[in-house]
Amino acid sequence: MPISFTIASTAPGRTRADVLAVPVYAERALGPGADAVDAACGGGLAAFMSRAGFDGGRGQSLFIPIDAAAKTALLVGMGSAADVTVDDLRVAGALISQKAGGSGRISTTLTEAAPDGVDRGAAAQAVAEGITLGGYEFLAYRSKSPSKRKLEHVVLLGGGGVGAKRGVERAGVITDAVMWARDMVNTPARELSPDAFAKAAQARLRGRHVKVEVMDPAEMRRLRLGGVLGVGQGSKQPPRFVKMTYTPQRARGSLAFVGKGVVFDSGGLSLKTGSGMETMKTDMAGAAAVIGAMSALAALGVTTKVVAYTPMVENMPSGEAIRPGDVLTFRNGKTAEVLNTDAEGRLILADALSLASEGKPDAIVDLATLTGACLVALGDKIAGLMANDENFGDEVEAASKRAGEQMWPLPLPQQYRKLIDSEIADMKNIGSGGYGGALTAGLFLQEFVNDVPWVHLDIAGPARANADDGYARRGGTGFGVRTLLELAEQHGGPSRRK
Ligand code: BES
Ligand code: MN
Ligand code: ZN
Repeated sequence: MPISFTIASTAPGRTRADVLAVPVYAERALGPGADAVDAACGGGLAAFMSRAGFDGGRGQSLFIPIDAAAKTALLVGMGSAADVTVDDLRVAGALISQKAGGSGRISTTLTEAAPDGVDRGAAAQAVAEGITLGGYEFLAYRSKSPSKRKLEHVVLLGGGGVGAKRGVERAGVITDAVMWARDMVNTPARELSPDAFAKAAQARLRGRHVKVEVMDPAEMRRLRLGGVLGVGQGSKQPPRFVKMTYTPQRARGSLAFVGKGVVFDSGGLSLKTGSGMETMKTDMAGAAAVIGAMSALAALGVTTKVVAYTPMVENMPSGEAIRPGDVLTFRNGKTAEVLNTDAEGRLILADALSLASEGKPDAIVDLATLTGACLVALGDKIAGLMANDENFGDEVEAASKRAGEQMWPLPLPQQYRKLIDSEIADMKNIGSGGYGGALTAGLFLQEFVNDVPWVHLDIAGPARANADDGYARRGGTGFGVRTLLELAEQHGGPSRRK
């Protein structure tokens, strides 16, 4: 059951909740609502805090037993008041969820800690997103649930009226899409063949105003999707190609989303090491994020037309697999020599980007767990952003900032294009020398967008968290869903549901 939220303007001490969570700043200043906690413990809060070594630092938390309507107070460290960002509200929400999720009912004044200039709706949305995403658990494969979670209801104290109510509703739609993407990423490849993934997409999108077309290999041959077919031919599980179309009435503007859907990446004949493939069920995170985002467009009242393309394959070695040295011909007629079968993502994205550009959208954005090199460059929390168009690059970056998903621009240097020149074909699928691997991958993809404004997001790092972190839980993060939704909402102008 999803956690439900209500907005209330009652005084903090008067809520019927098991836990009252209040923000406290690093200046030892009590945030909104904490004075009520202080009053409830007879003015002894400061002494309590120093005895416990709690100084309001970001990420700290402290339970205080009080005897009011709320049985316990949870102090939530926010760091310096002046530094608090909207994303800090999500992180603090997650902390509340983690620390107090064993209670059925929580009330909190956290939305009142929103930085200046952030409206009540955005604050309520961020807090609700943080609490919900921070409470995510993937228990499908546990014989006995280790979960102690009981959290069912959260009261956001401080009011905020319709704005806050809408914010909470939006958070519900968005987090549901993010958690669906996380579920997909966390599902083992044994149960998520390309066909199963395509069926999961169909099921997810049913009743959500998105037309879904699933192509099998025969249809893909007709469309000359040589990259997807080539990568897919080494697996017993045939590839699929899913096209999704969201057409709002009187659409303003259009976007195409493309997501890498490698349900398992063994590397193919250029086999990965044992440890190198441990997390490779995650290699479909781009597609999962795209499908998750598609599923939320109608509920958010998005006015942009969005068409999405997700090639789904399993990259396996076998007697039928593509070999190093083989040449593939893509949808747009270009050819590539496959020198390393582990650089498979760009081969399937080539066809998808060709199809996307044929549709002549205003712009294309692709999400792909594409290169280990991007992880080396930016670590595992920050996506690489490559753009062939400065304006669209800025548009996506701005969307990511609003969403609280970290990205950093990387170049597409034309002087590196020669690094993917092939002896016999139009290009090869790995860069000579091996340096700048995220960039040579981006340059490869650029060959397929036909000068349509385009952004490539290399999400090899942030698609997965190796440990719990803020509102990300260990495993699939659903990274990208929130940026895509911010982008789609903003691109077409204000929602008609507002
Ligand atoms: N799926 C991997 C990239 C990846 C690596 C994602 C680690 C997440 C974590 C991709 O298909 C791949 O194998 N890339 C190769 C490319 C190389 C052969 C040019 C890589 O990065 O090593
Ligand atoms: Mn690979
Ligand atoms: Zn891969």
